[in-house]
Amino acid sequence: MADHSNQKITWRCPSNIAIVKYWGKTGNQIPCNPSVSMTLSEACTEVELELMEKKSEGIELEYFFEGEKNEAFQNRVIKYLETNSAHFPLLEKHSFRINSHNTFPHSTGIASSASAFGAIALSLLDAENKIDRIHDKETFYTKASELARLGSGSACRSMFGGFASWGQHPAIDHSSDLYATPVKGVHENFQQMMDAILIVDNQPKKVSSSLGHSLMNDHPYAQNRFEQAKENTAGIIKTLYNGDYEEFIQIAESEALALHAMMMTSKNYYLLMKPGTIHAIEKITNFRTSTNIPVCFTLDAGPNVHILYPQKYKEEVSDFLKNELKTDLSGIIFDKIGQGPEKQN
Ligand code: DP6
Repeated sequence: MADHSNQKITWRCPSNIAIVKYWGKTGNQIPCNPSVSMTLSEACTEVELELMEKKSEGIELEYFFEGEKNEAFQNRVIKYLETNSAHFPLLEKHSFRINSHNTFPHSTGIASSASAFGAIALSLLDAENKIDRIHDKETFYTKASELARLGSGSACRSMFGGFASWGQHPAIDHSSDLYATPVKGVHENFQQMMDAILIVDNQPKKVSSSLGHSLMNDHPYAQNRFEQAKENTAGIIKTLYNGDYEEFIQIAESEALALHAMMMTSKNYYLLMKPGTIHAIEKITNFRTSTNIPVCFTLDAGPNVHILYPQKYKEEVSDFLKNELKTDLSGIIFDKIGQGPEKQN
């Protein structure tokens, strides 16, 4: 076998915003319900993976984030590689160094494990592919999606541009709990969507998503929630095909509130919304009612508000944001629907 030591591979992977939320998991990163997301364009992680000759037993990995050693994330990635070593034959002969950075500002509190694990999975699979097997493009991204999922569930949806779904669903062909699939043939109404992320609070998450997911294990409303997400997945896919903004908005906003309702009603309840979150939600819904512009909000597992709207209403929404939410637009990250990951070298 050729010596591939000291080879460097760089991938850039975007984050994604879920419209139907993944919340609750079982086994090795199997979702309790299907989800649908929109891949972003600007909020990305870039990972440079360097392969070196292995010197000792065990997994040898050094992880640098924005030039500094990041022990916490390094340990998470080592655990990921240990748990899933059967997927990574590379581990037998190589040690690794990862240099990563995000393309969005530090101080926004929107750090994303989806873009990070997406880029890590792509780099590892690419390295593997060079040495051993050749995957065709579709198989490559499907396999990368599976590997990314094992690191962070939502990461599996970032492998595809536009919209992607993840989780077995009778109404979605080729759907799987193991990897995401792209939603093809999306109506033109949804092809140029924007996402303005209103930074209500820039502190890192107080409750990790992993802990949040685990609270669904004995949640009194879990089964109903999983059913609701299943229905909403079918509903959102339908709107993506037929271009129905009204139905899309109803499902997207209801999903955002359902996610936070689950946090607030779990046994160890917690609340991530801030007064600024509620304020923004009220302003957005009032703006929609008074203008009929199809703009809506969604939320991640945090207080920041994602404002979704078609690009053709960019000027109107920007004026609204200036007049009603942030006069100088600071604290708003303007993102939009993206094309998916890109190899950098
Ligand atoms: C609220 O993918 O971060 O963003 O699998 O434990 O890494 P892990 O969880 P993660 O959970 C994302 C939850 C969410 C909804 C979503 O993206 O679907």
